[in-house]
Amino acid sequence: MSKLKQEFKNIFGQSADEPRVCFAPGRVNLIGGHTDYNGGYVLPCSIQYGTLLAIGFRNDNKVKAHSLNFPFIVEIDIDKPLHKIGNEWVNFPLGVMKEFQGKGVRLKGMNLLFYGDIPNGAGLSSSASVEMVTAYALNKLLGCNFDTIDMIKISQLAENDFVGMNCGIMDQFAVGAGKKDKAVFLNCDTLDYDLVPLALKAYSLVITNTNKRRELADSKYNERRTECETAVENLSATEPIRNLSELTMEKFESIKNKITDIVGRKRANHVIYENQRTMDAVKALKGNDLNKFGKLMFQSHYSLKDDFEVSCDELDVLVDEASKVKGVLGSRMTGGGFGGCTVSLVKKESIQEFEETVGKNYFERTGLKADFYIARAGEGVREILDQ
Ligand code: GLA
Repeated sequence: MSKLKQEFKNIFGQSADEPRVCFAPGRVNLIGGHTDYNGGYVLPCSIQYGTLLAIGFRNDNKVKAHSLNFPFIVEIDIDKPLHKIGNEWVNFPLGVMKEFQGKGVRLKGMNLLFYGDIPNGAGLSSSASVEMVTAYALNKLLGCNFDTIDMIKISQLAENDFVGMNCGIMDQFAVGAGKKDKAVFLNCDTLDYDLVPLALKAYSLVITNTNKRRELADSKYNERRTECETAVENLSATEPIRNLSELTMEKFESIKNKITDIVGRKRANHVIYENQRTMDAVKALKGNDLNKFGKLMFQSHYSLKDDFEVSCDELDVLVDEASKVKGVLGSRMTGGGFGGCTVSLVKKESIQEFEETVGKNYFERTGLKADFYIARAGEGVREILDQ
């Protein structure tokens, strides 16, 4: 905090107003992969890693945004139309600003300084974290009276319309609604949600980063969305539905041959059964059945790998190596896929062995070094006040 405030003064001048500081976490999804944009269930939790934003007004109409993580700086006139700038990180805050303007909010001149400790592009929602911290801070400073759900929707729209990534609502929701020691069981169609206690007792959630570059991940993600939409169109000829998640497993089995293309059928198969696994996982968690929870995590991974085809060799090697370590109940890819991280449920006393064995074998099999993080479910987006 004090370093961030000091840097703020160094960058924007000693005479700049004392900034307010907000924080938004990243998230890890425990189960319910690629179901959110299909109106299904997800079970993420916000994590202790995240993005800090120091923000203060200026006396002119400029917006200056810096990051301690990236060299790219933006300096724009707030009265001119906002445009996307290449693939730069600033598109996330700029997209949120544009959505605020679209809702009739008049922005003012501001200085913004970001700092994040979420591994970037690793499927832990570093982008949703930057969007939500921006939305939250603008809402506070400008007195807009948007509620958390409004800010979640604004952030998702920023990513869909400004950045061009057709993501669902899970990431922004977990970042906005997350609570300490709780997972967020969300119905992505109705946005009804339940905070489920993460009583893991002798176990911890361990995140393992493949450190593989996620090439073409955004275009492949958008392609999966289209495949699911086509499956809905095919099925709707027989059974009018808005999204795949309206179908029970039984109903799906009885009409699945209406999906003309075999690939589309596999995609739909994943979504329908993943919804059931997510509901079963919540039941298992509430009933303290961590063995069952872990089995569902493995099943989720294999379905994402074989039916939805969003995994990659590196993620599969991590899950395979995790499955061989004593004390591991479950492991799966988390996030969009094609690289990024796995999340594993590991007995606390086995964590050291897990890191050593999985790390060593992963390196031997892929030539890459894995990074490990122990995830704790933390609070969602908030302002950080001086002690
Ligand atoms: C990315 C997207 C989310 C979700 C996941 C897959 O993280 O941003 O909306 O679709 O992939 O579960």
